Amino acid sequence: MIIAVDGPAASGKGTIAAALGRHFNLPHLDTGLLYRAVGLAVKAHIDAPDIEARATKAARDLDSAAIDPEYLLGAEVGVLASRIAVFPGVRKALFAFQRDFATHPLGAVLDGRDIGTTIAPEADAKLFIVADPKVRADRRARQIEARGQSVDRDKLLADIEARDARDAAAPHGGFHPADDAVLLDTTNLDIEAAITAAIAQVEAAI
Ligand code: C5P
Repeated sequence: MIIAVDGPAASGKGTIAAALGRHFNLPHLDTGLLYRAVGLAVKAHIDAPDIEARATKAARDLDSAAIDPEYLLGAEVGVLASRIAVFPGVRKALFAFQRDFATHPLGAVLDGRDIGTTIAPEADAKLFIVADPKVRADRRARQIEARGQSVDRDKLLADIEARDARDAAAPHGGFHPADDAVLLDTTNLDIEAAITAAIAQVEAAI
């Protein structure tokens, strides 16, 4: 069984996908971490004229086993990720790893932007998670504050909106739900309610 969970930045898709993995006993891959690792690897050169070649090389050289989320989850790394994610060579280099993970005999849950459309169009269940940008910024702020770090909420919202805009203008017409995806709006749901709704949607799809 393959479950695809797509949606914009800080929509809750990562938490939902991890919970689906536990519930259905499937391995889970947060594909955003791959783009984040590449973005961080080329941080020093992000404005250089040869950034596309550098990012493509970094994506090809990426050691997915060495990815440590601890350094990758910040908002700045998210912005770097969205800047290198527009390069076709980067997407191509990261495709094989995601595709192998998706087609593992045990099945899998993957979350990202293009899982239901590109990585695993044959997925058995496809969810597309959305939430109001202000609510998303607020949730991300609370996560960061829970780690004891301070947050500039206006900047967080601006970063999320900038990433939405870049992702919406991404190659192939931007990230959009697969035709057969089920939309889940988590704006007015707490995390438990969102997970319960997601499990029900997957069960209805399989
Ligand atoms: O999901 P997350 O916020 O970690 O993703 C960071 C960035 O990586 C996104 O804004 C998007 O530009 C890019 N990304 C992507 N395709 C994916 C996952 C993430 O382009 N499957």
